Amino acid sequence: MAFERVGVVGLGTMGAGIAEVFARAGLRVLGVEADAEALARGRSLLEKSTARALDKGRLTAQEREAILGRVTLTTSREDLREADLVVEAIPEHLELKLRLFADLDRICKPETVLATNTSSLPVTAIAAATGRPGRVVGLHFFNPAPVMRLVEVVRTVLSDPGVVGAVEGLAERLGKTAVTVGDRAGFVANRLLLPYLNHAAVLLELGVATRDGIDAVMRQGAGLPMGPFELLDLIGLDTAYEIMEVLYDETRDRRHAPSPLLRELVTAGRLGRKSQGGFYTGEPPQPQDAR
Ligand code: 3HC
Repeated sequence: MAFERVGVVGLGTMGAGIAEVFARAGLRVLGVEADAEALARGRSLLEKSTARALDKGRLTAQEREAILGRVTLTTSREDLREADLVVEAIPEHLELKLRLFADLDRICKPETVLATNTSSLPVTAIAAATGRPGRVVGLHFFNPAPVMRLVEVVRTVLSDPGVVGAVEGLAERLGKTAVTVGDRAGFVANRLLLPYLNHAAVLLELGVATRDGIDAVMRQGAGLPMGPFELLDLIGLDTAYEIMEVLYDETRDRRHAPSPLLRELVTAGRLGRKSQGGFYTGEPPQPQDAR
């Protein structure tokens, strides 16, 4: 199973990062967005990320041009018909994904492998929405995709083991470590990471420590690259909240109940870096605000 032409549907933070990862590894990428405005945003994310690498001396101007030259952008899904692999990175709404996968199943050649970058939705349900459930897997990248070394390959009971093996091989070609995981809410990373982040918001709301205090403890005491509130801002508070809802729904474990502070900030539109205001940007909430 050779993967040379890859489609990425959805060019938000994750999709643009994933497109960059493939292009850096020498694959030809077709990036698909819903309209011209979203496409321009995706192009700008790709340009900024590669410009940053150029500034840091990690890429030459020639390499950057070659990477950008391997990415073609389109608003037409029909252009994906010859892709060997399509990775979906659209918003986390199951109905939207089910419709997209049914569409991809119709458009793409029968051998195309269809992958979802979902962070917590059931890959089995997405696979079952197609006529090729054996060729549907999860391919879960981490933010920022060009930097983080791991991908979770999500296999379902319907997955063809040959397809899972081929996708693991592809991850290595991308310079990533692949860990294959089962189709349970949050897989492994988010099942462990998100309850921790959610609990940081609970501690802040209880007034146990300040935002900066909690972040300092986890950065300097636990040796993590970012404190929980910095990481929540990076991931997006809406994404974190949605994942907690999925975890809570599946497990009914009250330790997974989404934090009310997180819900309040999401309702207020404070979503983190992408909205210029989360725990850090804009006016960050302090414990006394939440009580
Ligand atoms: N896009 C592209 N490249 C980026 C980037 C971005 N947004 N942010 C940083 N980088 C690159 C830099 O260019 C630099 O590359 P270089 O070493 O080749 O020059 C490298 O990353 C390190 O960046 P900096 O020196 O500027 O910054 P830091 O040393 O502070 O590292 C970090 C930044 C890599 C983001 C680090 O803080 C980190 O690892 N944070 C934790 C991230 C994390 O946990 N991600 C997983 C979240 S969970 C998830 O994504 C799952 C989802 O389903 C919710």
